[in-house]
Amino acid sequence: LISIIIAVIGGYLLGSIPFGLVLTRMAGLGDIREIGSKNIGATNVLRTGRKDLAAATLILDAAKAGIAALIFAALFNPTAGLVAGGAAFLGHCFPVWLKFKGGKGVATFYGTLFAVAWPVGILAALTWIGMALLLRISSLSALVAAALAPLIAYLFDMPGVALLCLFLAALIFWRHRANIQRLMSGEEPRIGAKPA
Ligand code: G3P
Repeated sequence: LISIIIAVIGGYLLGSIPFGLVLTRMAGLGDIREIGSKNIGATNVLRTGRKDLAAATLILDAAKAGIAALIFAALFNPTAGLVAGGAAFLGHCFPVWLKFKGGKGVATFYGTLFAVAWPVGILAALTWIGMALLLRISSLSALVAAALAPLIAYLFDMPGVALLCLFLAALIFWRHRANIQRLMSGEEPRIGAKPA
């Protein structure tokens, strides 16, 4: 039990580092929470026009969750790795430093998946990329991939990962409430479109 508690705390703290906010602020772009969708994630960083910062946000947000999962799996056991990845996801979405108003969890979801079950991560990432190439909408691509991930993990005969995916996918849908409304009213912007 102690190992699980340590994995939760460590994962949460790593996940709560808001790289999108830090990088855009360091670049003098102001507060990303006042731009575009107001989200701290890579998709919204791209709306500043800085592709390099968007890519760095995606990689660092994914890496913090992946590293959390790998560290605690190595320190304790695979379950602690799953828990730490999930906790990093929660840290990103609900960071104590930002009054619990964080991101939508897509990059941290992929980081966790790549660390705990890379074949599932690759298939989920390919789903995102395929949908993004087809539709050019980041949120919709993420929602489709998140919905399929539990099924992919189940088909790979990984019940623990499938359960984690189900939990994280539900939270991803919850965090995309505003996006889902915009998708339904046809107002969701395409990838890279500048905010009005
Ligand atoms: O990763 C979040 C993405 O799915 C949507 O971001 O800024 O369009 O709300 P955004």
